[in-house]
Amino acid sequence: MSDTKATISFTDGTPSVDFPIYKGSIGPDVIDIRKLYGQTGKFTFDPGFMSTAACESKITYIDGDRGELLYRGYPIEQIAVQCDYLETCYLLLNGELPTRSKRDQFVGTVTKHTMVHEQMQRFFQGFRRDAHPMAVLVGVVGALAAFYHDSLDINNAAHREISAIRLIAKMPTLVAMAYKYSIGQPFIYPKNSLSYSANFMRMMFGNPCEDYEINDVLVRALDRILILHADHEQNASTSTVRLAGSSGANPFACIAAGIATLWGPAHGGANEACLVMLNDIQKMGGVEKIGEFIKQVKDKQSTAKLMGFGHRVYKNYDPRAKLMRETCHEVLGELGLGDDPLFKLSMKLEQIALEDDYFIQRKLYPNVDFYSGIVQKAMGIPTDMFTCIFALARTVGWISQWTEMIADPDYKIGRPRQLFNGATRRDVLPLDQRS
Ligand code: CMC
Repeated sequence: MSDTKATISFTDGTPSVDFPIYKGSIGPDVIDIRKLYGQTGKFTFDPGFMSTAACESKITYIDGDRGELLYRGYPIEQIAVQCDYLETCYLLLNGELPTRSKRDQFVGTVTKHTMVHEQMQRFFQGFRRDAHPMAVLVGVVGALAAFYHDSLDINNAAHREISAIRLIAKMPTLVAMAYKYSIGQPFIYPKNSLSYSANFMRMMFGNPCEDYEINDVLVRALDRILILHADHEQNASTSTVRLAGSSGANPFACIAAGIATLWGPAHGGANEACLVMLNDIQKMGGVEKIGEFIKQVKDKQSTAKLMGFGHRVYKNYDPRAKLMRETCHEVLGELGLGDDPLFKLSMKLEQIALEDDYFIQRKLYPNVDFYSGIVQKAMGIPTDMFTCIFALARTVGWISQWTEMIADPDYKIGRPRQLFNGATRRDVLPLDQRS
């Protein structure tokens, strides 16, 4: 908080008004305009929330100009190399990194909740095998509310905590089930002696006929994907979770709403869209055709975009992209895929775009999804599962943000205003008099 004020004056005779300005611990100051309508009869207009902070938060901070991402104050570069995903979850949920004993306790609790109700299998069987796994995930995560009635009281802190644990623990099981169902293989039960990421890979790629061999490089790569996608402050899906939650909806319903929002290609669907784009360029003729494709992307008449490039907030390099790029090279090396034509194509595309004036002037750099799609493809994860893995990773961010909001005694139901441009009041004409 500060004593600084913003004075807004008007040219239409409305008296000028003062608004308090608040300072966060870092980041831009905010002007508190909550009383604007009451004092002036006017709303603000900010589609896309370009200048609007919709909540207070202590969880994640992004400085888009400096390319900085902090989880509870810790730089992503340190978290990604010094912590694993479940420690990151603990941090996001609780505000501090766990001690060894708290870590062991948390891991133990999450691990005990990895199984889903056996009847969940019937939900999967109701879907077509060729359904997009994100469609399935929206359905089955929403359906969790029908199974866990004992933790739906959002005003009870213990219920909120157990719902958070259940979501974090069961998401890998549900995502792997969605995959197994799509390829007609039996579901693989979780194995609690494995780490979170190793267990997920076994549920994805194991089968009852032979033991699944854990590859530490790939498990570490997956864990890094999960860490880098764990939270990203008030993005579209997180804001959706908060908005849904502001009505008092249960956490499973709110996370299902977040998953639906994440699915869009401008958000979490970008890694899938990026791979589709790479395949399309490959079909057009590969590296030789990059120039033609870039020309199309720059053409104002075309809707084509270079997927995996650009970000609403990062107008410098996406710090997650640097870490993911490192993992990308590690995984391609481990799997001997350095010469794969698609991977060569992606590296060439990255190089050309980074040198092109159009992208430099608009500060369009590769984002995390450019590399995470390539890594996942190398690991054998099918393209249409990429966004599900993003959803699995982001669940902790969503539930941490939801918990923060519900625990705030001042939270209100979200209700944006509008600039109405439609017809003014008019009367209904009888059917034969209408033109
Ligand atoms: N390819 C070509 N041109 C682009 C791209 C792109 N990927 N992104 C932005 N531009 C151009 C855009 O056409 C505009 O040009 P002009 O000023 O001439 O009209 C300028 O750059 C500014 O773009 P914008 O649309 O105002 O930027 P935005 O902040 O509204 O959009 C974005 C951000 C992420 C939606 C957009 O960059 C995009 O669609 N990128 C591709 C999809 C993608 O990779 N999304 C993943 C984001 S990271 C994962 C996550 O956090 O969800």
